[in-house]
Amino acid sequence: MAIKPVLKMGEPLLLKVAQTVEQFNTPVLDALIRDMQDTMTALDGAGLAAPQIGVSLQVVIFGFKKNQRYPNADEVPFTVLVNPRITPLSDEMEEGWEGCLSVPGLRGKVPRYTHLRYQGYDQRGNVIDREVNGFHARVVQHECDHLQGILYPMRIRDFQSFGFTETLFPGQSFPDE
Ligand code: NI
Repeated sequence: MAIKPVLKMGEPLLLKVAQTVEQFNTPVLDALIRDMQDTMTALDGAGLAAPQIGVSLQVVIFGFKKNQRYPNADEVPFTVLVNPRITPLSDEMEEGWEGCLSVPGLRGKVPRYTHLRYQGYDQRGNVIDREVNGFHARVVQHECDHLQGILYPMRIRDFQSFGFTETLFPGQSFPDE
């Protein structure tokens, strides 16, 4: 389909609560997901939420293949998640670096739940219900935050751990979400 421009922080739509998807298995939903997939692939991202391409619906995609550029991140299966709900399965939180396609060039340390259950649907309306840890749990929380109008800088506790990627990590690159 098409690579779409990604909205950047400052755009009011990124601060809105996204609307619930009411109809599954429709050409409109399929086209949205193809656009999201094309855009995420083109930008080498690990996740993307529909509001980031200007569509205020409860749809996120994410997925990450282990590769040489990012030796330390765990693999996450490619997933389309519609109308997601997250339930933390412990109080434990962990700080970890994140970047966002809507906040280009920057990275910050963000606290996230380490262990959670997420539920929702794929684009056909099939139920998704998973229990995950670590990087997978982090990516899901980052993407689902986008559906609540929350960008990761709003979650940073210590702004000494927020800066430009090229300054913090010279010569390295990371998958943004
Ligand atoms: Ni993001």
